[in-house]
Amino acid sequence: MPADTLAIDGGTPVRSRPFPREQKVGKEELKELIDVIYSGHMGRFGHDASKVAAFEEEFAEVYGVSHAIASTSGTSAIHIAVGMVNPSPGDEIIVGPITDMGSVVPVPYQTAIPIFPEVGRDTFNMDPASIEENVTENTVAIMAIHLFGNPCDMDAIMDIARRHDLIVIEDCSQAHMSEYRGKLVGTIGHIGCFSLQQSKHITAGEGGITVTEDEELAARGRLFMDKGWHRAQYGPRRYDVFGPNYRMNELTGAVALAQTRKLREIVALRRERGDLLTELIGDDPHVRPQRLLDGCEHTYWRYGMRVLEDAPFTPQEFAAALVAEGIPCSRGYIGRPIFLCHEAFRKQRLFGDSRFPFDHPNARDGIVYDESTCPVTQEVLDRMVLPIAPSQFLSEGDIREIAGAIRKVSSLLGR
Ligand SMILES: Cc1ncc(COP(=O)(O)O)c(C=O)c1O
Repeated sequence: MPADTLAIDGGTPVRSRPFPREQKVGKEELKELIDVIYSGHMGRFGHDASKVAAFEEEFAEVYGVSHAIASTSGTSAIHIAVGMVNPSPGDEIIVGPITDMGSVVPVPYQTAIPIFPEVGRDTFNMDPASIEENVTENTVAIMAIHLFGNPCDMDAIMDIARRHDLIVIEDCSQAHMSEYRGKLVGTIGHIGCFSLQQSKHITAGEGGITVTEDEELAARGRLFMDKGWHRAQYGPRRYDVFGPNYRMNELTGAVALAQTRKLREIVALRRERGDLLTELIGDDPHVRPQRLLDGCEHTYWRYGMRVLEDAPFTPQEFAAALVAEGIPCSRGYIGRPIFLCHEAFRKQRLFGDSRFPFDHPNARDGIVYDESTCPVTQEVLDRMVLPIAPSQFLSEGDIREIAGAIRKVSSLLGR
């Protein structure tokens, strides 16, 4: 077979070795865990508890913020943020339509209604013009999703928020240490939320953390995380906020603490690898990496790309050909805007057979979640492909091979 034959057509694949296994934890995590086991104390509160508090303190230090509240997941970190906003039934929160369900679920749980703007075709992030069009008299907050680690247009979002007096929550579940014009995402809006789920930049298997500079929001969030329990009181118990139990345990805190100490190094490596990939394939005529705004730093939780409209192949064909070359590649991310991925959500039947909060007297009429809600976002999702993420586990040679395979497929497929 000639060297310019695609593997999918019987040619030699660019790569035949598997990619390295992602071993994310080691002796540093084990050392912190041993402390917890020997202490015999695994709950976050008590005299012998120290790891969750240390994790919060060190994470806050890395981010240069005054308050950090650990919790059990990225979803809980966002739920705490929405609890801080404290919406009334029928209030609206504008949320990015390309995200995990964990960004959305906390909104109706706190009686508010998620509203979805369109995303930009090249950034895959929320389009500020569409955010503005979706602001109504019921809007109380915007939740910015920094998709795959690519910072949203925070200047524009903060400007909209200031003009309409809205709180900005940044969902940084995929964007640890991503930078927007010299600032870390998560510190630009009023509240930043992070996931420590297994696939994330740093992980404790599961876990989350919510950061803010605002004293009042922090106080409310800390109570919300712990059932609203005002623990300082003697005498009868007192609960000041209506909230669930999202306390992180000490075992998780131990791992999260050790991971936080590695965060800068992990992110620097990912950035280097991802930027190199963009340098190698950024000018391809048929496929394009997710666009990064000027002055921003991506951290590549995933490497988002789109197959251009006039390419001589479909995204499916591209992904299949890349996989045949030995490069893992998934055909897209969530496939449909998040509200179409959930039948009960689409039907607005979230609590028993009621329509709450959509039928609350304060709710706006005419909110629908269907194919007409975010057509541009659907087109973006339809053209998206995700080759293997340029993680800290890959070498520069691995990245060059990935780039070579992308170039090969793009130039030969459909020729
Ligand atoms: C953007 C985004 N938001 C929220 C979440 C929810 O995080 P978790 O799975 O830790 O609850 C995730 C996790 O996949 C995510 O990627």
